Amino acid sequence: MTTAPVFVLNGPNLNRLGSREPEIYGHESLDDVAASVTRTAAECGLVVDFRQTNDEGELVAWLHEAVDAGADVVLNPAAFTHYSYALRDACALVTTSGRRLIEVHLSNPAAREQFRHTSVVAAVATGSIAGFGADSYLLALRALAR
Ligand code: DQA
Repeated sequence: MTTAPVFVLNGPNLNRLGSREPEIYGHESLDDVAASVTRTAAECGLVVDFRQTNDEGELVAWLHEAVDAGADVVLNPAAFTHYSYALRDACALVTTSGRRLIEVHLSNPAAREQFRHTSVVAAVATGSIAGFGADSYLLALRALAR
């Protein structure tokens, strides 16, 4: 039996990591994060499919793909976290199909502006990890590997 890779999905503006507000998001690029994620996944015996998009529809389509593949998901929904009911409903498709979806954030949105305190995804996620920089992704992988 082949196990589906873990989909590690990233939303808008995360392709600018490294130069985007480094005092909040750090100096690592998204390629650096992808490399750490791939390394940690291998240590945990997991394979990852790491992607980023600025497009809400594409992110929804990738979640549908994860459902069809029977894949667990690590998702940094970025700004969509705070208002995208389309993304929320697509996340619910993953968790109601019996797969796990972990919401991750580099920063701790609860400690930032008011609009970031709402996550429309959190209630349909298996769990959420925020505030540990790129380690948020690695902790999510370790949780999935247990
Ligand atoms: C983020 C937090 C969001 O509020 C923000 O819009 C992002 C990144 C994070 O990883 O800390 O783009 O998801």
